[in-house]
Amino acid sequence: MSAFLLPPQVAWADGVLSGGPLIRKSTRMQALAGVFSNQSAWSECDPERVVYDVELFDSPSAEGELYVGVTHLYAGRVGDEFFMTRGHFHQRREQGEVYFGLHGEGLLLLQSEQGEARLEYVFPGSVHIIPGNTAHRLINTGAVTLSALAVWPCAAGHDYASLAGGFALRVVDDDGVVQTKEVQNG
Ligand code: F6R
Ligand code: MN
Repeated sequence: MSAFLLPPQVAWADGVLSGGPLIRKSTRMQALAGVFSNQSAWSECDPERVVYDVELFDSPSAEGELYVGVTHLYAGRVGDEFFMTRGHFHQRREQGEVYFGLHGEGLLLLQSEQGEARLEYVFPGSVHIIPGNTAHRLINTGAVTLSALAVWPCAAGHDYASLAGGFALRVVDDDGVVQTKEVQNG
């Protein structure tokens, strides 16, 4: 047995990574200026509050290599809008990605370069094949942490600027009912 290498691990129940060098990044409320539609509700939030944490295995980043990471998106709202990730296109637009729901529930907002948006339900065991040329954002519509595993090409990079004007759909809590709203300038 001792001849086998022990690979890194993911705990399927909660997305905790172990067994390898990790990179961790916390995204706090203060870093999400302009992301939520209700600016005054955002400015009243604790700027230090962590909205999501990303952990990934530190691995070679050359063309052809893959990153494996988990996003833990906490439960909460800014005004009536659910906590969500900033969302991005890949810098290399043709590069896709796969997300797997592990814990909690929510939505994956996908948007084409033409601005057409769609939502996929995220739940433990869900598999989301994100094609190239498609922006993506996680939204936590539940009461517990939404954790999702992702695998993406190291060469993909991130382009946040192209979506600075926002996505075409917003997801809000309407008295306990999850509602989607179309945004004109999205
Ligand atoms: C990588 C990827 C995820 C996100 C993470 C945080 O390409 O899609 O690991 O980076 O969910 O979201 P952003 O990067 O939009 O802040
Ligand atoms: Mn991505």
